[in-house]
Amino acid sequence: MRDLISDMKVQLKDFSDDYIDTLAEIIMDAYQDFPEYGEPNIKKAKKYIKWLKNHSTLFKVLFVDDEPAGFVVADANWKSIDGKKVGEIHELALKKKFWGKGLGKFLLETALNHLKEHGVNTYGLWVGTGNKSAIELYKKYGFSPKYNYVKWLRMEKRV
Ligand SMILES: CC(C)(COP(=O)(O)OP(=O)(O)OC[C@H]1O[C@@H](n2cnc3c(N)ncnc32)[C@H](O)[C@@H]1OP(=O)(O)O)[C@@H](O)C(=O)NCCC(=O)NCCS
Repeated sequence: MRDLISDMKVQLKDFSDDYIDTLAEIIMDAYQDFPEYGEPNIKKAKKYIKWLKNHSTLFKVLFVDDEPAGFVVADANWKSIDGKKVGEIHELALKKKFWGKGLGKFLLETALNHLKEHGVNTYGLWVGTGNKSAIELYKKYGFSPKYNYVKWLRMEKRV
């Protein structure tokens, strides 16, 4: 896949409440092909964004050529369901028109760098079991499948 990032104006901005509506729209757009892994409607998407805001040490909004394109949320102080302290990547989402340009890698690297700076040595995330492109992305960055829970796959990476 060709990496087109160098042809675009790419900016990361810190989350603010002003972005809640925009981020909810990004969620609805990003999960349009697999709604079972997204939120059922804008109202629930906004509630989810607020939950993310309260469970994050990193929340960055991505702008491409000044258009809101996606976001990434991570928490360096998370505990996984088996009680381990992990750096958790809670969300990584891009509007569909921005897929396949290397921006997913860019957001993932942003989260991993943040977690590394916080000194955690295990990184984790949940991904839909049928979300093949996201699973491929995480494998590329050293995440391995650990266990399944309903429709979700737990992936982790140790450094
Ligand atoms: C998952 C997502 C963030 C990937 O973003 P992206 O910008 O399209 O990904 P990139 O262009 O950076 O590609 C990174 C890698 O992902 C994998 N990938 C991306 N699209 C793929 C596809 N259609 N098929 C297989 N692998 C794919 C590849 O390994 C790719 O590496 P390569 O370019 O060296 O082949 C994006 O598709 C998205 O927002 N999806 C909806 C929300 C979502 O599923 N988020 C993950 C929640 S856990």
